[in-house]
Amino acid sequence: MILKWRTHPEITRYMYTDIPYDMQNQRNWFGRISNDVSRRDWIVQADGVDVGVVSLYKIDYTNYKCEWGFYMNPAAAHGKGVGNHVALNIQEYVFDKLGMNKLCGEIMAENVLVVKWHQLLGATLEGKRKQHIFKNGHFHDVVVSGLLKYDWENKIKNKLDYIRGVFE
Ligand SMILES: CC(C)(COP(=O)(O)OP(=O)(O)OC[C@H]1O[C@@H](n2cnc3c(N)ncnc32)[C@H](O)[C@@H]1OP(=O)(O)O)[C@@H](O)C(=O)NCCC(=O)NCCS
Repeated sequence: MILKWRTHPEITRYMYTDIPYDMQNQRNWFGRISNDVSRRDWIVQADGVDVGVVSLYKIDYTNYKCEWGFYMNPAAAHGKGVGNHVALNIQEYVFDKLGMNKLCGEIMAENVLVVKWHQLLGATLEGKRKQHIFKNGHFHDVVVSGLLKYDWENKIKNKLDYIRGVFE
């Protein structure tokens, strides 16, 4: 299911790599991430239905920061608010449960809605990495975002209403 979502044109266009549709490759990846203590991955369920994949990676207990990534099932309805609930849950998890100080994001610059979305979620755009990714025959810029715990506590926490999810 994840391989199907991840290779869908509407998802992979915003990812750094276009992975092959190869189950063995996917199993190897799953094996690797299962043993990787610097990351955590979840399948997101809404009303019992699998709707997306959310990941925390490069979890760094020295500098108290990590990165996050998220994509929805391309067949699920976008723009219905699921993404907001997931992002706000992830923020709470990262700051209150994992004890991080900073949540980092990287977004392909052409993913304009998601760049705006990070700002709506309290993050600051820290800069643009020019021609950072080579894909589909040309270079792509990448926007770097960062949400500090201080800003989250002042701008987001207890200010936006969302459904508390259960993390397993
Ligand atoms: C980004 C993504 C996870 C958002 O999920 P979603 O359930 O559509 O999100 P929501 O309905 O909660 O909307 C949240 C925000 O997403 C942004 N957004 C991004 N892509 C969108 C889309 N295709 N349709 C609607 N909103 C979108 C909007 O800014 C929206 O904010 P608003 O509702 O306050 O205007 C989803 O669109 C997706 O999987 N996109 C492709 C993969 C991707 O780009 N991932 C991020 C890589 S950094």
